[in-house]
Amino acid sequence: MSTAIGPDAAAVPSVDDVPESQPIAWRHRHLLDVDRLSTDELDLIMRTTDAMREVLARPIAKVPALRGRAVTILFYEASTRTRVSFEVAAKNLSADVVNIAASTSSVVKGESLIDTVRTVEALGAQMLVMRHSSSGAPYLAADIFSGSVLNGGDGWHAHPTQALLDLYTMRERMPGGSLAGRKVVILGDLLHSRVARSNIWTLTAAGADLWLCGPATLVRGFEAWANRGAAGRRFHLTTSVDEALRDADVVMALRIQRERMAGGLLPSMREYAARYGLTRERLALARPDALVMHPGPMNEGVEIAPDVAAGPQSVITDQVTNGVAVRMAVLYLLAGTRVPS
Ligand code: CP
Repeated sequence: MSTAIGPDAAAVPSVDDVPESQPIAWRHRHLLDVDRLSTDELDLIMRTTDAMREVLARPIAKVPALRGRAVTILFYEASTRTRVSFEVAAKNLSADVVNIAASTSSVVKGESLIDTVRTVEALGAQMLVMRHSSSGAPYLAADIFSGSVLNGGDGWHAHPTQALLDLYTMRERMPGGSLAGRKVVILGDLLHSRVARSNIWTLTAAGADLWLCGPATLVRGFEAWANRGAAGRRFHLTTSVDEALRDADVVMALRIQRERMAGGLLPSMREYAARYGLTRERLALARPDALVMHPGPMNEGVEIAPDVAAGPQSVITDQVTNGVAVRMAVLYLLAGTRVPS
């Protein structure tokens, strides 16, 4: 069974359609999700990321774009990729970086989110990168923080920089750099996935033919969610992994989020792996050159087989590497500065 949501996407402009010469103003103070970004702005981020890749290829990958700016990274949830790549990105731009893990801060003494945000601002923070287990927490922070808030992942809701680095990685590998008409599959625990929720916006804006696939208990609610804001974009929902993977150009497996999993959603991890795990046999249904992606961290042997994760079609480490350039790009754009030559 599959459900097509929204009309054909032919009328939706692709981020690839924006002429290189078109001037685009950056008008956002915060990056809370990708849903408020126009296709022009997505294209600007992609082109700024290209410029940051050039910076990263230099013998000394450091520019003074954010010299004198104070960036605070405040994470209430565990992270390796997002936290470290934001820190590396900010340091590459010469920002002054402070890291705060909620688990070793006054949060454990009962300090509220609002008090913590006011405190870090009083300590000089001008840009605040934040991860929180509660959906919407960065929006609350943005209401009271006088600088820029960048969402590093909030609850089930959004992970904008992950979606941007995923888009960048796909475009980099696609012939002609375009996703228009390409079949992109997101497979697995959609229900708990902020990565999927942000990717839906960027991938459909780029003209991809997007398929969401997983067991019925882990894909429910997406028809209603998609109909709220993604009209006119190509978007399908299916519980059939064979239907989803057939002739796919990109397959992104999602982590089974055991820490957010309520009882009864899956019979067992073993059964999930048997029915929905991305194995070599299943990947053979996709196009021979299909990209294999995963936002990480992975449960290898559950949602993705180790030989697929490390196989020749995998671009999972490219996703991680591209995360630095993408985060440099968004920090730079939000700071309103220029990349020096
Ligand atoms: N993809 C991602 O958000 O990974 P981390 O939890 O390691 O940051």
